[in-house]
Amino acid sequence: MSNSNTSSEDPYMLGRNYYASARLAMLHLLIHAQFGFLLHPSIKLPSAIKDQEQLRIADVGTGTGIWIGELTRELPQAHIDGYDISDEQYPPQEWYGPNVSLSKLDIFKPLPKELEGKYDVVHLRFFMTIASDDNVQVVVNNLKGMLKPGGCLQWVERDWMSKFPEKAEKSDDPHTQVTCYHRSLFPEVRWINSLPAQFEQCGLEVLDYVTQAPLPVYRKPWNEDCLIGWAAIGDVIKNQEDKKWYRERLAEAAENARKGWYVDWELVVCVGRKDG
Ligand SMILES: C[S@@+](CC[C@H](N)C(=O)[O-])C[C@H]1O[C@@H](n2cnc3c(N)ncnc32)[C@H](O)[C@@H]1O
Repeated sequence: MSNSNTSSEDPYMLGRNYYASARLAMLHLLIHAQFGFLLHPSIKLPSAIKDQEQLRIADVGTGTGIWIGELTRELPQAHIDGYDISDEQYPPQEWYGPNVSLSKLDIFKPLPKELEGKYDVVHLRFFMTIASDDNVQVVVNNLKGMLKPGGCLQWVERDWMSKFPEKAEKSDDPHTQVTCYHRSLFPEVRWINSLPAQFEQCGLEVLDYVTQAPLPVYRKPWNEDCLIGWAAIGDVIKNQEDKKWYRERLAEAAENARKGWYVDWELVVCVGRKDG
């Protein structure tokens, strides 16, 4: 499995080829099946916008745009704009209809003036390998900046590190060992289970914070999706010794999965509202 399509312009390590897109699509479908919503029920869309025509929604770090595609089926008249630092995974824009736009944006950079206060809802999902404890506030602030007064931010993550030790022992299970290795490749992500505090620090009122483990019926595909993600990470490890070690742990984890083990990361949804 090669990640040769990964752009060298940005540090995103999980690849953007068809394996990576399929992995994200499966994850999206599993999450949607589990939660049963694309927009959390605490988000009350402005009632004045009966025909949805003035409703503006943004998805930042949209990737393949699959969340947007599904949202067009619920809100066909709404204007939905997708943004990502890379357009490599975008579908042809016309497949999503005339009310959708897909363009490039680096959410760590100062927000372009034309995006300020533009949206009723801003959605972001899966910055767990991208934002660090040091810079997550930049992202929350920029997302808040995109909201109209009274608009809502929905942020969805998987908590992939917080319950693991800082350092693993050789005797630890492969998941613990791999997670501790990930700490050396990816930013610190203590922010994931402090998203409500991150929102409040930026002046957003927290409407809800949900954490859920994958339901038993979804554990198998969820686990396979996670292991495909690990394989993609294994592909980009440069040090050959580390790469070999990592692939061995992955093989052990896959073997454990046959005996009922699964990646029990919690899904996290945080919803906040801007004053107004
Ligand atoms: C794990 S993927 C998630 C994609 C999508 N949100 C989903 O849930 O399927 C993370 C996405 O964030 C994008 N990304 C990385 N750095 C970014 C940045 N600085 N600004 C905007 N998007 C970024 C990546 O290109 C990638 O598409």
